[in-house]
Amino acid sequence: MSFKTLIVETSDGVTLVRLNRPEALNALNSELLAELGQVLDAATIDAAVRCLVITGSEKAFAAGADIKEMSDKSYAEMFAADYFTAAARKLEQFRKPVIAAVSGFALGGGCELAMMCDFIIASETAKFGQPEINLGVMPGLGGTQRLTRFVGKSKAMEMALTGRMMDAAEAERSGLVSRVVPTDKLIDEALAAARKIAGQSPLAVLMNKELVQTAYETTLTAGVAIERRLFHSLFAFEDQKEGMAAFVEKRKPDFKGR
Ligand code: CAA
Repeated sequence: MSFKTLIVETSDGVTLVRLNRPEALNALNSELLAELGQVLDAATIDAAVRCLVITGSEKAFAAGADIKEMSDKSYAEMFAADYFTAAARKLEQFRKPVIAAVSGFALGGGCELAMMCDFIIASETAKFGQPEINLGVMPGLGGTQRLTRFVGKSKAMEMALTGRMMDAAEAERSGLVSRVVPTDKLIDEALAAARKIAGQSPLAVLMNKELVQTAYETTLTAGVAIERRLFHSLFAFEDQKEGMAAFVEKRKPDFKGR
């Protein structure tokens, strides 16, 4: 597949997706979101793809939804098209792990895209923000909800109301990103994490992702109960036998996804 707004390469079980609209700091327009949806659809049915990494350029992961595309739209158009919903659902419902590798600006929809991924690795130059307030609007891709869950009410409220950006160090302190790495190591670090995931039991990976996500959607008691049952169910798979036997025999496991 070739794309106009993305550069996509797959190797060693990992698909690396580079947002590629340098003229607009990777602003998310309909075409880019549709192409990202195509990548996710293809990755869903390709068993060889075990993990995705989404990244941008050194200057910008993505500077938001495309303001030029949206500026003249009417309420009727936004509502009738259910603007953003199809694209967001694709990523929200995607079952394989997705890592955001963020350098430079991750603003508005860019910050929201990163937060929809399963975890964020940031470079030292990363800057996160929800500056929609400066445009007379508000986040529309989940920012008010996810940022609040990830960094707490006070920081999320300040960022949404003032448009203040958070640098990489603050983002790590606040739990928004899993870690910060030197800018020139960002892609290598993200790919190394993705390859580590790609080498695990794909079944255990899917269940782990699903259960960590469940923590945001349910009570502690219900979440722990579901986790216990799914933990038990993993003992139906050959991968559990292989993983535990390999540990006992002091060798590397060879997971087959069965
Ligand atoms: N949409 C469309 N085009 C954008 C864009 C965006 N979100 N962000 C940047 N661009 C374009 C600029 O218009 C400019 O294009 P021209 O050369 O044709 O003028 C080009 O990218 C380079 O940008 P700048 O010249 O502004 O670069 P800079 O280094 O001076 O500033 C910046 C960088 C601070 C990120 C600045 O570009 C900026 O503030 N961008 C907008 C950020 C923003 O408001 N994002 C929220 C969008 S709304 C949203 O995302 C809604 C939602 O929740 C989904």
